Amino acid sequence: MNSPITTISEIGEHDGQTVTVRGWLYNLRESGKLLFPIFRDGSGVIQGVVPKNAVPPEVFDAIKGLTQESSVIVEGKVRADKRAPGGFELDVSNVQVLQRVPEDDPFPISLKEHGVDFLMDHRHLWVRTPRQAAILRVRAEIIKAARDYFDDRGFTLTDPPILTPAACEGTTTLFPVDYFDEKAYLTQSGQLYIEATAMALGKVYSFGPTFRAEKSKTRRHLTEFWMVEPEVAYATLDDLMDLAEGLISFLVQRCLEKRRADLQTIGRDVSKLENVKPPFPRITYDDAVKILQEGHAKGAVEAKFEWGGDFGSPDETYISSQFDKPVMVNRYPAQIKAFYMEPDPQRPELALCVDVLAPEGYGEIIGGSQRMASHELLLKRIHEHGLPEEAFKWYLDLRKYGGVPHGGFGMGIERAVAWICGLEHVRETIPFARTLHRLYP
Ligand code: 4AD
Ligand code: MG
Repeated sequence: MNSPITTISEIGEHDGQTVTVRGWLYNLRESGKLLFPIFRDGSGVIQGVVPKNAVPPEVFDAIKGLTQESSVIVEGKVRADKRAPGGFELDVSNVQVLQRVPEDDPFPISLKEHGVDFLMDHRHLWVRTPRQAAILRVRAEIIKAARDYFDDRGFTLTDPPILTPAACEGTTTLFPVDYFDEKAYLTQSGQLYIEATAMALGKVYSFGPTFRAEKSKTRRHLTEFWMVEPEVAYATLDDLMDLAEGLISFLVQRCLEKRRADLQTIGRDVSKLENVKPPFPRITYDDAVKILQEGHAKGAVEAKFEWGGDFGSPDETYISSQFDKPVMVNRYPAQIKAFYMEPDPQRPELALCVDVLAPEGYGEIIGGSQRMASHELLLKRIHEHGLPEEAFKWYLDLRKYGGVPHGGFGMGIERAVAWICGLEHVRETIPFARTLHRLYP
């Protein structure tokens, strides 16, 4: 096979020419003397046409009865066809089967329905199916877009450590690691470290894996997830909300622009994403509590929500279902939030923080705040939260040597992907999900 090698996504540039495609057999329809193999190569799928009387017998015989996911190199002439899903078909003239999947041990994931546990046990193979591949492409686009958003706005990427001596987001979800003779933990968030780099560089962000020993089984929690976290010197809560709103709109519009076909493969109703543009509604925690209490009076919310409590998933779902854009809920009671949040000077019982809840019931995708400025108050909070002062000495230094108002937020990539793709569960948003009961494959 001497024809130029192309990917299926770029095959349109070769209309009328003979090309070589390297991939796998996705499916095969046979009708007598005509074979319709569908090939995939990771960039897309294309249907081949193999008439018995138009190809050498060995080519026809190699494709006839070929098993799903056998690896193949095929040569053929590209032909535009309006009815074909990608707009083109391949008139196959030659084929080389690299590895034939045995008939008696077929590819485990057939085109029929499978249970989720079965699919997750075969995740290493499940990722080959078009819908899962489309989700991974959208994920990659979201990551690229998030980096572009910050890179193009004067932010410097600074990578925080993954092995850390202390907790950032509460001591109940720490993953301990033996670090020679010391106890260490996998990071829950890069925030504390990028507060330091923000004091050096002004506007910074981190993007990396984060870990939480979440013992609950929910649609929204992973034990290992990826977070993008900006941190900005001199930023106020309003600045952070502007930044969050800008970021989310940018990600959604980028996916609509570049990944529309993938979103269609996934089955996403993209009309719901079209109007995700600034401004987003901004409501206070107090307003959100009112929404829940009114919902309870109408019979739409089960339990009566008391001021001071934290929102559970059903609460967030109800609040966000009142809006068709992400809603930014700000100023939660300090009691239910992290130790490092700046109190609201108007009402010190509140924290200057924001949670962004995605529409369509997706709940929190971003959490952020202004950071505590006072050395004295921060030390008090560290003690109140039962955190080891020793491990936070460097963090307290940031309040001693030229402390400034500052803040940032974290966006969970998997939560963002789940919402933008319209998925029920975050486990499909990452190549190999880690949850309470899953460490394999
Ligand atoms: O709200 P969280 O806990 O905030 C922080 O970690 C801050 N230190 C971030 C910051 O201000 N720089 O987490 C931030 C986001 C959540 O909104 C959610 O999207 C995601 O991280 N997240 C999870 N995603 C998947 N599985 C989990 N177990 C998650 N926990 C948080
Ligand atoms: Mg949060």
